[in-house]
Amino acid sequence: MSDSPLADHDLSAANTLGLPCRAERFAAPAAIGPLRLLLRQAADQDWPLTILGGGSNLILPGRLPGLVIKPALPHWWLERQGSSVLVHVGAGVEWHSLVMALAGRGLWGTENLALIPGFCGAAPIQNIGAYGVELCEVLEAVQVLFVDDGRPAVLTPQECAFGYRDSIFKGELQGRVVITGLILRLSRVASPRLSYGDLAQRVGTHPGPLEVAEAVCAIRREKLPDPAELGNAGSFFKNPIVERQRAEEILSSWPEVPHFELADGRVKLAAGWLIDQCGLKGWRSGHFGVHDRQALVLVHFGGGSAAELLAFADRVVEQVQARFGVVLEREPRLA
Ligand code: FAD
Ligand code: EPU
Repeated sequence: MSDSPLADHDLSAANTLGLPCRAERFAAPAAIGPLRLLLRQAADQDWPLTILGGGSNLILPGRLPGLVIKPALPHWWLERQGSSVLVHVGAGVEWHSLVMALAGRGLWGTENLALIPGFCGAAPIQNIGAYGVELCEVLEAVQVLFVDDGRPAVLTPQECAFGYRDSIFKGELQGRVVITGLILRLSRVASPRLSYGDLAQRVGTHPGPLEVAEAVCAIRREKLPDPAELGNAGSFFKNPIVERQRAEEILSSWPEVPHFELADGRVKLAAGWLIDQCGLKGWRSGHFGVHDRQALVLVHFGGGSAAELLAFADRVVEQVQARFGVVLEREPRLA
């Protein structure tokens, strides 16, 4: 892929929802030097800038003005440190391929995060999480370039202010940096985390990380639609976190709601269950629907637009709010 911008580039196949989109300019720099030059060009020309990974957590409009940059930086290597291994990885490495390669080498830490689509550069944005593990638990550092002047910086996990589906990259640093690489710390010591759902029943007594990763992939394939076959962005809403008193009120009426108590006393509720209870699982209206195996996933049957998707999502939010008094927040980001 060329480092200089391509004009009027089609991104319809570059987002997992399959929304039609054309970028005024698009570039996929494979090294830091060309990436810096592009940032300078965008700043000099006052072009609006969009950073794109695998488009698996993005809602794209019909047209993106300015410049879209997809950092392609493809390197990764390992550095041994006692019983740990540091993984240095560029933003353009596909997350799932990395996870499987690390698990295949017997390294523990990322195996529960198998089959999450997208690239490493996007993983810290919402602090990806699945099956009881979040990225921040294995992250040592995030390497960035500031978009205004191209200066590099390295952020510690504390500086990244990670939370549930949250980080500084969705707050103070939103739109201000390009993530160029990550450093992860994995372990050579067996440390399986099998407490989520029925994961423990899916593996043998002393599983290796590859066995755990494969079990996670099998569970995910049973309920999540493959974006190659049906457009989607994974969970469309975050699981809502409510104060304990509100949770107790909800639980007194619906004792079966799946919930998880957080360290700060608040309670996380399963949004998929709330949507399911509203009778919306499998509901379709126009080009969009609620997935028939996982109600937290909205699907695109083709031919729809971002505006239609957002209107469809609003109807889901309204029904959940009317029934449970809980307002769902969107997970995928608007470009
Ligand atoms: P994109 O969607 O391209 O971008 C996401 C955001 O990050 C955008 O705001 C973009 O501007 C920004 N961004 C991307 N790259 C960079 C960069 N290098 N520097 C600065 N900003 C950048 N997520 C989970 O947490 N857990 C799951 O279990 C999970 N399962 C999923 C299952 C499916 C089927 C799908 C479709 C999605 C799922 N997701 C899940 C959501 C998604 O895969 C993750 O959020 C992923 O990290 C997004 O990566 P991406 O490369 O596609 O990012
Ligand atoms: N549930 C229902 N009906 C549904 C869907 C879910 O009753 O239609 C119930 C399930 O039976 C279970 C509970 O809700 O008791 C939770 O369901 P699940 O284990 O499928 O997880 P989730 O909370 O719906 C979250 C993440 C996923 C992640 C999985 C596994 C969020 C917003 N979503 O989903 O992440 O893969 O847990 O850890 O936190 C994503 O972010 O895109 C994503 C897919």
